[in-house]
Amino acid sequence: MIFITGGAGFIGSNFVHLWMNESTEPLLILDKLTYAGNLENLSEWRHHPRYHFVQGDINDRALIQHLLNHHTPRAVLHFAAESHVDRSIAGAADFIQTNVTGTFQLLEAVRAYWNGLPETVPGPDHPSRPHFRFLHVSTDEVYGSLSPSDPPFSETTPYAPNNPYSASKSASDHLVRAWHHTYGLPTLITNCSNNYGPYQFPEKLIPLLIHNALAGKPLPIYGDGQQIRDWLFVTDHCRAIAKVLKAGRPGESYHIGGAHELPNLTVVHTLCDLLDTLHPRKTGGSYREQITFVADRPGHDRRYAMDTRKIQRELDWHPLENFDSGLRKTLAWYLQHQEWVSHITSGAYREWIKQHYGP
Ligand code: NAD
Ligand code: DAU
Repeated sequence: MIFITGGAGFIGSNFVHLWMNESTEPLLILDKLTYAGNLENLSEWRHHPRYHFVQGDINDRALIQHLLNHHTPRAVLHFAAESHVDRSIAGAADFIQTNVTGTFQLLEAVRAYWNGLPETVPGPDHPSRPHFRFLHVSTDEVYGSLSPSDPPFSETTPYAPNNPYSASKSASDHLVRAWHHTYGLPTLITNCSNNYGPYQFPEKLIPLLIHNALAGKPLPIYGDGQQIRDWLFVTDHCRAIAKVLKAGRPGESYHIGGAHELPNLTVVHTLCDLLDTLHPRKTGGSYREQITFVADRPGHDRRYAMDTRKIQRELDWHPLENFDSGLRKTLAWYLQHQEWVSHITSGAYREWIKQHYGP
């Protein structure tokens, strides 16, 4: 079986859907169910014999140790994190606690478990030390910011995180790297660009824009809107993770990206135009009229871009969606799942929106 942390969040739940649909291997999911974790994302699997969910914190080493010893997974996929940059700027404590300390606790529990595994495989369902994998899901943000003419980040670009979130993710990457180098734990790190797709919490740019557009609210663009992100459809990310898990070389990092660098303003224009076609405003006019420029994010990174030649060459991974096809799928999903959106945009969500964007 495979042990997944953070499986009730955006990317984790998309990975669970992919795995449950395309593999026969059972999953054990550990998730704290913070504001970003939602069991509704996984509800279709709740009675499935290959699906096991435990609510818990990656900082709870005793719980993790127990789960590892009891379920004997052949791999741990570590998605759990505090993931929103603006929240990290408003308060970094949870980011340090989960992304840094939590990753440390998880690594230590996994190391103890891995140390107890046999050197050779005793039977078909038993993991062994050489075949075990710890895969850590990370981000392109660890490298800091690029100027327009810089080449994309490669796996050897020095780390230079600029905000509390990316600093905490960098720290966790360094811990994972060190646990391989010092203890020999068979680790893999993936660094990915901006994901979008179904089940993304509407604090992140694309689902926030969809939610606000449909609600007739302003579409807030930070600063001049010329910051560049590389957009990747979430299922392409999940397929890349599955490939790295299967054939990635222990101790290595792999870059994952969509090769779709776009300024934020282009993203919002594209989305407004698509909405105008698929879901015209009842009041007439274009959704573009709702675009509002707001104060910039402090320390806002100007551009991210990923050199993905390593994963293409070694693991034959390529994204299947382009931004147009991925955005259409995403928009269709949100239009069909307005109930899902209304469940998570109550209470705590409204508090965050009020605190961050003002009343
Ligand atoms: P998310 O915020 O949607 O989900 C995070 C999940 O982790 C939630 O289900 C939450 O409940 C859980 N969690 C948080 N703290 C926990 C703890 N202490 N113990 C157990 N569970 C905990 O995040 P996401 O967008 O799905 O990102 C998943 C991973 O991918 C993160 O590590 C993130 O840094 C990385 N990543 C995200 C993107 C992106 O564009 N979203 C891009 C690159 C990398
Ligand atoms: O690059 C990978 C990272 O992508 C992940 O590691 C993070 O977990 C994920 O949150 C994401 O970080 P970003 O900060 O790039 O994503 P976000 O959706 O918050 O913002 C995307 C861009 O849009 C960024 O330049 C900020 C801008 N933005 C965002 C919001 C929420 C706006 O202009 N207005 C907004 O209201």
